[in-house]
Amino acid sequence: MDRIIVEGGRTLSGEVQVSGAKNAALPILAASLLVDGWNTFYNVPELQDINTIGLLLEHLGAKVEKDGHTIKVDASGLCETEAPYDLVRRMRASVLVLGPLTARLKKARVSLPGGCAIGARPIDQHLRGLEMLGATVELSHGYVEVQAEKLRGADIYLDTPTVTGTENLMMAACLAEGVTILRNVAREPEIVALADLLNRMGGKVEGAGSPVLTITGVEALNPVEFSIIPDRIEAGTFMVAAALTEGNVLVKDAVPAHLQALISKLRLAGATVTEEHNGIRVQGKRPICSVDVKTLPHPGFPTDMQAQFMVLMTTAKGLSVIAETIFENRFIHVSELVRMGANISISQNSAVIRGVKHLSAAPVMATDLRASASLILAGLIAQGSTEIHRVYHIDRGYESIEQKFSQLGAAVRRVK
Ligand code: EPZ
Repeated sequence: MDRIIVEGGRTLSGEVQVSGAKNAALPILAASLLVDGWNTFYNVPELQDINTIGLLLEHLGAKVEKDGHTIKVDASGLCETEAPYDLVRRMRASVLVLGPLTARLKKARVSLPGGCAIGARPIDQHLRGLEMLGATVELSHGYVEVQAEKLRGADIYLDTPTVTGTENLMMAACLAEGVTILRNVAREPEIVALADLLNRMGGKVEGAGSPVLTITGVEALNPVEFSIIPDRIEAGTFMVAAALTEGNVLVKDAVPAHLQALISKLRLAGATVTEEHNGIRVQGKRPICSVDVKTLPHPGFPTDMQAQFMVLMTTAKGLSVIAETIFENRFIHVSELVRMGANISISQNSAVIRGVKHLSAAPVMATDLRASASLILAGLIAQGSTEIHRVYHIDRGYESIEQKFSQLGAAVRRVK
């Protein structure tokens, strides 16, 4: 098992290039199932999760060709309707083939993704939406089976603004007959990116980024070329790293409009954040001011940045409160940070962080993707050498993370 070793005490400076967004690439690759012919996707991050969905698309009968950050997919040969357990268990985002398969083949059998470290992760909203579009949904032997003679437009209200739920229903509605209204949808930049792709393919999706989507079904969609948007969570991770280490870092291609909540909180914490023509520059300053945060659906503060921002608060002046409202168990990183000397206590869905003078290095365990990144951040400011185990979690969502941190002057290396 690989480990990552971080020597604390370095100040980060220079430029870092943000990769394409994992959480935009996954639904966009799934959307290639909606059309016959070759789609070409540029700026796709090279990550384990992208490999996994590539395997799934091939299993379903599509042709997939990968050349660095460019991936081509042709789903003309789509024939299989089942997403097997051994692929879905590796990556719950495999559930994103549910909508396209139902739309194209009128049939889908997808292993239920099951929970993960951060929560139960139900897909009830995905399934209810497909039923309202005219599909029948059955659960058996750990699989969800969806059948539909024909999908018809419907007026659907989501109980919760689920990101992948919105994406699944957008894709299904594009090939349904008539108009679908999706209400209380997710508004993340990745939703807007998927809508851009579907419209480029000939779909009719209006309102992306707002709480209501209006989707007019079409007979067929056409293959396109499309470039993946930058990863706002990777960008935010490097922005926090600069603030933590009193650094001066330009995060290239980071999009300010995608990160307004984080930018505002970093400024309240005392960092200088400036929008430049090719990215966002962050200059850290100590003492760090303590700031309260509450995670919310976009445009609120992103849950995927909660662990990283908590590290910034561990050595801030005073007390801060971080409330996690999206997932029921997303404080797994807290016990690891406490082992490094942080003073954090949890009650219900809130963590209370009392700033300490410094963190001290310790061997720690990565658990979920973003919690793992926060351990690297903690290592940057801890006294000594922090050893992070189970780094495969990190490789799922961060491309060449140790190279990118090393380029900025951090002492981060991987040990096989
Ligand atoms: C997406 O997951 C992201 N993954 C997650 O990023 C991200 O943390 C999450 O959105 C929230 O922003 C991808 O885009 C591939 P949700 P998703 O459905 O769609 C509840 C990462 O680190 N819910 O928006 O699975 C659910 O329990 C990952 O890259 C229902 O109740 O999240 C959760 O509490 C981690 N019923 C909340 O909604 C449903 O049918 C948000 O879940 C669906 C969701």
